[in-house]
Amino acid sequence: MDIVVKGGILVLGDGVFPADVGIMGEKVAALGQSLPGERVIDAAGCLVLPGGVDAHTHLGLSLGPGLDTSDDFESGTIAAACGGTTTVINYAEQGGYDSLLTAFEAWRAKAEGRAAVDYSFHMLINDPRPAILEEMAALVALGVTSFKALLAYKGIVMLDDAQLFRVLRRAGELGALVNVHAENGHLIDELIAAHRASGHTAPRYHALTRPEIAEVEATARALALAEAADAPVFIVHMTCARAVDALRRAQARGQLAFGETCPQYLLLDERVYESADFDTAAGYVLSPPLRAKDNQSVLWAALAAGTIQTVGTDHCPFTRAQKRRGQGDFTLIPNGMPGVETRLPLLYHYGVSQGRLSLSQWVRVTATNPARLFGLYPRKGTLVPGSDADVVIFDPTRHVILDAASLHTNTDYSPYAGWTVEGWPRHVLQRGRLVVRDGQFVGSAGAGEFIPRRPFTSL
Ligand code: URP
Ligand code: ZN
Ligand code: ZN
Repeated sequence: MDIVVKGGILVLGDGVFPADVGIMGEKVAALGQSLPGERVIDAAGCLVLPGGVDAHTHLGLSLGPGLDTSDDFESGTIAAACGGTTTVINYAEQGGYDSLLTAFEAWRAKAEGRAAVDYSFHMLINDPRPAILEEMAALVALGVTSFKALLAYKGIVMLDDAQLFRVLRRAGELGALVNVHAENGHLIDELIAAHRASGHTAPRYHALTRPEIAEVEATARALALAEAADAPVFIVHMTCARAVDALRRAQARGQLAFGETCPQYLLLDERVYESADFDTAAGYVLSPPLRAKDNQSVLWAALAAGTIQTVGTDHCPFTRAQKRRGQGDFTLIPNGMPGVETRLPLLYHYGVSQGRLSLSQWVRVTATNPARLFGLYPRKGTLVPGSDADVVIFDPTRHVILDAASLHTNTDYSPYAGWTVEGWPRHVLQRGRLVVRDGQFVGSAGAGEFIPRRPFTSL
């Protein structure tokens, strides 16, 4: 073997056992005991996992002049690597491009030569006119086998029901999966107008104008339209018990319906918006907003039960200065938060160590399930002979105090500032190359590759 990761406990989505991982070139060649290797990476006392797959990032997104997400593909993927994530599926956007292929090439150019970990794209469709529906086939042929549709952000990217139905039906025909941002954009705009009329401008009105019921209604509607289209559907960033309930009922009816939640909805709650400090409250402005704390136990239980299959981050960071665009009008605060670097450690500390998830469930929701749902498995999301040698050597005893200055994401605040987690990646390999050694990034921007994905198959 070129490299042997020796003496660790291998954690896969379907089992936990002591094993060495033998690597030849970019691939896993063998799992076993006492494997010989030219180079040995000591994993004694550590957990050895497949590299994380974060299926929800917004690197290189622009919401307007001066409002690019503060992580581009370079800084964002370095942060991902340091947190044990070796594949990101980023959102590319149709935007104003007249062709999906042109949009895809533009997004690919943003990543090429800059990404430090492997990447793929979902394509957001904001104008599903017939030519665009037709062109979805060309994207699937290039390995972009998932699309995104939004039921919020009216007048910008929101689709109406007929449009969503057409996207779902076409995706279903093509073997692609549609990711839905489920919030009722009409209701949200009504509530915004009412609060504006009352002179309400503070960040907390962001949450009050995007209530749970807006998510519950849109989730149920997306599930109904997917059933009508006979297409699989994936509901992104789920936040609340009633939406989970709608998903569970759809699954019980036999629908191919899947869900994602994010660390912020599992760990943070709406009380952060009560802060009188604009920067503090605005730092948590994202959509859907953080919810009442009692939703968290339901989300954890849904992950453990497999009702929700994945934890993505919705990594969409902005700096404090960018968030200050919304001083005086909460609707102008750019929506989003950083998270790509802290996903695995937070899920280990609050999930595994606190008894909410088993080790295998942790790996399933952060790597195996996103890889399977999005056509990357078994190349990504597991470690079996033939898989890419994306390996995380995770030290379960390492204490880290979360803080913007020591994290690699390009933001000047952390939503988790001051929190201590126990457990952090010590070394990370990407396709057989060490990209993180003793917690330090040693890879190179540009070494990440575009990974074409296969069509959708169910879990
Ligand atoms: O506030 C968020 N989540 N921003 C990112 C875009 C989205 O809706 O996923
Ligand atoms: Zn969204
Ligand atoms: Zn998002």
